[in-house]
Amino acid sequence: MPPPLPQCRQRPAKPDYNVRMTAPPTITLAFTGASGLPYGLRLLECLLASESQVFLVYSPAAQVVARHETDLTLPAQPHAAAALLAERYRARPGQLTVFGREDWMSPIASGSNTADAMAICPCTMGTAGAIAAGLADNLIERAADVMLKERRPLVLVPRETPLSAIHLENLLKLARAGAVILPPSPGFYGHPQEIGDLVDFVVARVLDQLSVAHTLGPRWGEARVAPPATERT
Ligand SMILES: Cc1cc2nc3c(=O)[nH]c(=O)nc-3n(C[C@H](O)[C@H](O)[C@H](O)COP(=O)(O)O)c2cc1C
Repeated sequence: MPPPLPQCRQRPAKPDYNVRMTAPPTITLAFTGASGLPYGLRLLECLLASESQVFLVYSPAAQVVARHETDLTLPAQPHAAAALLAERYRARPGQLTVFGREDWMSPIASGSNTADAMAICPCTMGTAGAIAAGLADNLIERAADVMLKERRPLVLVPRETPLSAIHLENLLKLARAGAVILPPSPGFYGHPQEIGDLVDFVVARVLDQLSVAHTLGPRWGEARVAPPATERT
């Protein structure tokens, strides 16, 4: 007679899906080397302000673009990056973890311990193409691959213009695989006054897709937008 199998730990009762989950989510955020690092940094700031746990990973090209577009030098060392960004955005201790792009031991490399959702903001055509081809050649591509296979939210903020047929086919492939393709296309119906308003419009849409609460600007229909002064009679 074979020995009895060890008893499985009792499963917790199924959650009531009508009750809103209140635990802060864990979000993977990736920066790649497309123009638009200010979107990514603002997204990081809002995620940390929302109490989300954040796993951040960025490419060497993102470091180059950050130098061109912002006042920030993204350190090559993950620990230095975590310290710098946590201080800049007043993160709680342990709220932000930065991983190296080849850190295969990080939780986001595996479907057994992945985040609740992931955003790549901004996303290069190169990274979009690599994910569409299933390469998983670095931690950003692998983490995105995991999100798709686990059917978890993956939001890409792709930036290039104009888009070639190759770009469009890769983005279509990703959309068909379950990714949300969210181009940084701010609306002008809210009468933005400064660049920060345009950035926030896009970041708000990303946060919506990640199911992270925010107060970035009024939603359509909530507050009537005054027409510009020249149109008022
Ligand atoms: C200042 C700057 C802006 C760039 N903007 C874009 C862009 O908007 N979209 C894009 O696909 N690539 C852009 N690139 C090129 C990418 O950074 C390059 O293809 C890189 O290899 C992408 O690597 P990554 O996807 O690993 O970040 C830009 C590069 C630089 C230096």
